[in-house]
Amino acid sequence: MPYVLGVDVGTTRTAAAVCRLGGAGRAEPEVVGLGGPGGGVASTLQLTPDGAFAVGEPGDPRWTATGFGRRVGDAVPVVLGADSAAERCPAEELTALMVMWVTDQVAAREGERPAHVVLAHPPGWGAHAKGLMHRALRSVGVEASLVPEPVAAAENHAFTRSAAGPLGVFSLGSHAFSASVVGRGFELVNTVEGVDHAAGVDFDDAVFSHVRTTLGRALAELDADDPRTRGLFGRLRRDCEAAKRMLSGTVETSIPVHLPSGPVDVPITRAQFEDLIRPDVEEAVSVFTRVAAGVEMTVLVGGSARIPLVAASVPGRVVLEAAPETSVVKGAALAARKLVIGPDAEPEPIETSVMVRDDDPLLRFPVGGLEAPDAEFTAPPPRPPVDITPLDLPERRTVKRVVRGLVPTGGRRARDSEDGR
Ligand SMILES: Nc1ncnc2c1ncn2[C@@H]1O[C@H](COP(=O)(O)OP(=O)(O)OP(=O)(O)O)[C@@H](O)[C@H]1O
Ligand SMILES: [Mg+2]
Repeated sequence: MPYVLGVDVGTTRTAAAVCRLGGAGRAEPEVVGLGGPGGGVASTLQLTPDGAFAVGEPGDPRWTATGFGRRVGDAVPVVLGADSAAERCPAEELTALMVMWVTDQVAAREGERPAHVVLAHPPGWGAHAKGLMHRALRSVGVEASLVPEPVAAAENHAFTRSAAGPLGVFSLGSHAFSASVVGRGFELVNTVEGVDHAAGVDFDDAVFSHVRTTLGRALAELDADDPRTRGLFGRLRRDCEAAKRMLSGTVETSIPVHLPSGPVDVPITRAQFEDLIRPDVEEAVSVFTRVAAGVEMTVLVGGSARIPLVAASVPGRVVLEAAPETSVVKGAALAARKLVIGPDAEPEPIETSVMVRDDDPLLRFPVGGLEAPDAEFTAPPPRPPVDITPLDLPERRTVKRVVRGLVPTGGRRARDSEDGR
């Protein structure tokens, strides 16, 4: 059945969702499993010695590009390798490769190419970043439209609830925080985006600092650069992140630390964790209240919106989906559907299972006491099996060249080889 595709290239996770075009009734956006954490795939591209990119497998950090989705428009490219062997990869080309890979994966599964692709992008992108992204997508053979992440979130919200007025969008992911207002016509009315604001990785650090304080010298005396203890620290960071996620659904957990002298467990309660992150959450909420003063309803999106303190701290009527890290990608798929079938073809929204909290005490829903199901993030696999499909690229030259080599149609490729480029 024909379908459209939404893609969200987050700093840590790339997600995809499809929306069917045929069939009766409303087409729910469906998140597509890409084989990695939380149903998506890690946003990493590792350049291998044979000039192929391996998707979703971090590998050697010198050859692994990360965080490119939020660096589009940056004059400084992502540098892979060192010295004369270094490859300079513009962030938009890496992002386009990721979108191309996702599109190919989904097309292989669906048996046909999507009728349209929509890529969600950070709300702060201006004409320059969007122009670069459009060109890079075209150069890898993907015709896509772009939609700001908060607008995608609003599209997703409108699928389940009728909008009474401008919508506040509070977004807290792994590295980025943004506060936005989206108008009834799905226009971005106001937005503030900050990578300097604390987000998910900073909350992992808070758990890490708790472990450090608790263990004192036993941990401080270890040399993080010693190859024998490096594995310990890497594992500890992953366990801190897992403990943080656990604390969204339980009030106490512990972090296993594999010290050379033997393993120890460091307990942490949700109250302790909340005390550590409260200043950061309050700072984000104060930015949001300035940006979105007067909005009647706010939707919370991004994986870190699962933290109960976050939902409890945002004032007014608050809507939180069970898997808020998928709200943007589902909205991108809905935006793609709207572009193909037209805005008037959709029936009225139906209310579905979103959690709503209201500050009216009569209507108030106790967000702090109600655990959002953590279906996609429970029992975090230390290393989930990721289906790594290297992109089939020609021999390594510059990534610019590599991207051109991927263009499926003959024209540009032929022209490039004629030029000897
Ligand atoms: N249950 C949970 N409780 C707390 N944090 C969670 C939970 N589940 C996921 N997270 C955190 O959410 C973050 C990932 O969120 P998301 O997938 O929205 O980020 P991203 O889109 O990759 O990054 P960004 O939008 O910041 O560029 C990670 O920091 C992860 O630890
Ligand atoms: Mg994100």
